[in-house]
Amino acid sequence: MSSMPTHGHANGFAPLATKDVLRVGDLAQHEVLDILGTAAALKREPARADGALRGRSVCLLFEKPSLRTRTSFEVGVFRMGGQAVFLDHRDQPLGARESIHDYGRNLERWCHAIVARVMRHSTVAELAAAATRVPVINALCDMHHPCQALADFQTLLERGFDLRHSRLAWVGDGNNVCHSLMELASIVGCGITVVTPEGHGPDPAVLGLCVARSMRTGARIDVTHDPAAVRGAFAVYADTWISMGEPDSAAKRVAFARYRVDRDLMAVAGPEALFMHCLPAHRGEEVTDEVMDSPRSVVFDQAENRLHAQNALLCHLLAASPAAAPGTPRAKAAAGGSAAPAACVP
Ligand code: CP
Ligand code: NVA
Repeated sequence: MSSMPTHGHANGFAPLATKDVLRVGDLAQHEVLDILGTAAALKREPARADGALRGRSVCLLFEKPSLRTRTSFEVGVFRMGGQAVFLDHRDQPLGARESIHDYGRNLERWCHAIVARVMRHSTVAELAAAATRVPVINALCDMHHPCQALADFQTLLERGFDLRHSRLAWVGDGNNVCHSLMELASIVGCGITVVTPEGHGPDPAVLGLCVARSMRTGARIDVTHDPAAVRGAFAVYADTWISMGEPDSAAKRVAFARYRVDRDLMAVAGPEALFMHCLPAHRGEEVTDEVMDSPRSVVFDQAENRLHAQNALLCHLLAASPAAAPGTPRAKAAAGGSAAPAACVP
């Protein structure tokens, strides 16, 4: 924990040990549960976060397109009384005009938090290392999408997901969203079955950390190539086969055809199984219209919950920082930092 005085707003959100949230694994189990609890509370009673960001500015810098992430952060910061500043880097990658280090050292003098959507995880890590005074939130990179996973677990819990006994099934690419869901599952101790075509499984290092953590939390993590493994899952989750920044590949589309989520695959999962997708969806590719538009689809609840989950994350992350005057030194080492995700495991 930081030794700095906690003179943030008085809304009563518990500060997090980590300065940055670059991946779900930066959070301890109790912090994930706290954030999810706050997200649910803010959805019921948004006034609880009134003024939580009063006088604070949050920079949103994006190297990739976005509908949900950008809009929900901008709306969320506004509703909590703060100011969002959008920095468009879709045509000018970070580091092109000035070094990422210098960029971070500038931003921390004006802003109270940095939200970054970047091509490579190393970019957001470098930014967080440079901007030692303010939190950095990863709003998606090639490896992780922590805000998405938090909103998704909020959605699952709303629908009665039991962290001890329920299981989520991921069908498709072992990508950034998959990694964040695996990390969250491994932290809270629930089940996750990852179904991918051969050669498209999750990153071995991420999987290794999740499996190691699962030994302590009781999470059940299975990785398979067999779509029938969705049987009995609480929800079936799909994502694009080709992620942003990845070259299009006809061969990949062929390899993934057997992994389309359609009526038959949902029938294998079971009559009660929900359908989830982080969106944007490619209807007719990874999911059929019929499944997307069925009563079991919760995709727009997931999109809505991006707002509540991110508001909750901002409230907890900023609870330990001064409300005014960004630029106050806040040593990352003292605040925990995100360099050692394993240390955050309960
Ligand atoms: N799910 C998600 O992150 O959507 P955007 O890419 O539109 O932000
Ligand atoms: N895996 C997708 C998620 C989009 C929200 C991508 O990175 O493009």
